[in-house]
Amino acid sequence: MQRKHSGVKNFVILVITKFFCSTFSSADTDVSCLYMQSCILPCTLTNGDELVLHWFYTGGNRNVHSFYQNQDQLGNQNQLYRNRTFLFKDQFPRNNLSLLITGVKPQDEGRYKCFKSSTKGFKETNINLIIDAPGSDIRIHQDGNRITCRSEGIYPQPELTWSTEPPSNTTLQNRTTVHQTEEKLYDISSSLTVPDEDPGLSYSCTIRTRSNRKKFTVKQLSVTSAPYRTTTIHCSDSNWSAASLVWRFNNQSILSQTEPSVSPRVSEAWRKHVKDVSRSGSLTLQDMTSQQEGVYTCQLSNQDETIITKTSVRINQVDRVVHNGIIIAVVVVLIILIILIVAVIFLRMKYWKNAGGAQANLGLELQTPERSNEAAAE
Ligand SMILES: *[C@@H]1O[C@H](CO)[C@@H](O)[C@H](O)[C@H]1NC(C)=O
Ligand SMILES: *[C@@H]1O[C@H](CO)[C@@H](O)[C@H](O)[C@H]1NC(C)=O
Ligand SMILES: *[C@@H]1O[C@H](CO)[C@@H](O)[C@H](O)[C@H]1NC(C)=O
Ligand SMILES: *[C@@H]1O[C@H](CO)[C@@H](O)[C@H](O)[C@H]1NC(C)=O
Ligand SMILES: *[C@@H]1O[C@H](CO)[C@@H](O)[C@H](O)[C@H]1NC(C)=O
Ligand SMILES: *[C@@H]1O[C@H](CO)[C@@H](O)[C@H](O)[C@H]1NC(C)=O
Repeated sequence: MQRKHSGVKNFVILVITKFFCSTFSSADTDVSCLYMQSCILPCTLTNGDELVLHWFYTGGNRNVHSFYQNQDQLGNQNQLYRNRTFLFKDQFPRNNLSLLITGVKPQDEGRYKCFKSSTKGFKETNINLIIDAPGSDIRIHQDGNRITCRSEGIYPQPELTWSTEPPSNTTLQNRTTVHQTEEKLYDISSSLTVPDEDPGLSYSCTIRTRSNRKKFTVKQLSVTSAPYRTTTIHCSDSNWSAASLVWRFNNQSILSQTEPSVSPRVSEAWRKHVKDVSRSGSLTLQDMTSQQEGVYTCQLSNQDETIITKTSVRINQVDRVVHNGIIIAVVVVLIILIILIVAVIFLRMKYWKNAGGAQANLGLELQTPERSNEAAAE
């Protein structure tokens, strides 16, 4: 009977607090969490005789989780939080009244109040929950002279920019569309019309939120193929070393590096071509032939930054012809030289034989009478 009475009393205090005392609360603590992860809203309030605890979402007057009469009281819990909240009851004696929320979503973002009351009065603390969704990796699709860049499931609203390398003065014709899903996540896509006249330019699409940056670059590279010649394909223009690095050729893996301290794992097929990998992800290749012509993609990633660079590599055929021509010319010259040397040796031998033959004439006379006759005729 008395317990019930105390519960009612606390509820009255609670209602008063909720509507009149909000302004007296202490400064908010910011808590940042990633979309769909579990998140702890911290609350440490000295625990009194009998614990009456309420967690509210004050951004929208939602009951999130209550605990009194020594048990969870979820009758009035807002549907949004059904099966998603948890209190660390074993931690209550240590004044830890933190709330765990699982699978956090943009709808959960906002201000929360941890409210504790007892016969001695009430205490509260405010937490500001911030949700970040990095979204999917950027995908780029190129169709003629139109490049489309897109990424989905981002929160909060991202900002998309295009850039070129080297920087171009001309304003690029671009169109960006943003769509917000029911889950409050943002899908963004942008199309850029690329002028034909500048094949040497590289185009980058960058999508930025308050916690995250993603950049996708497309470029072309012409490589002159020659034995022992090396070619470097760059991944990032900036000078940072990421946590992980992956290089791919078409769909085939060239190498991957999961940590900067660990040396990269190079696939068997590429071992003879990979010469070096720099700290910033640049890949140095050697002995490129027309078989290595294709699309090289690298991905450098950190917790809050992802750089993808797609380089279309063309092996320079003109130089190959010239190169083959040089080889043929060298071979022809060598053959001519050999013929000349052989001819000289042959002629010298013949001359020597003739001269020597004349000298040895007398000695040979008896053994080869026909030859000595010839020699005599001369
Ligand atoms: C909550 O969990 C229980 C049992 O685990 C389940 O029966 C119920 O459907 C869940 N409710 C919601 C809203 O997911
Ligand atoms: C409360 O307890 C949880 C679970 O053990 C722990 O993760 C959290 O850090 C604790 N919070 C405080 C403020 O001690
Ligand atoms: C670009 O701008 C620079 C200086 O801002 C100028 O010198 C150059 O001529 C411009 N190029 C084009 C193609 O307009
Ligand atoms: C994209 O188009 C807008 C106008 O629609 C323009 O202001 C902006 O400079 C363009 N971006 C680039 C990278 O050219
Ligand atoms: C890159 O960073 C390293 C060390 O952080 C520095 O020594 C080097 O000069 C930098 N290079 C460039 C081009 O900024
Ligand atoms: C790469 O793989 C995807 C599917 O995994 C396929 O659609 C695509 O055609 C492949 N590209 C190449 C160049 O093999």
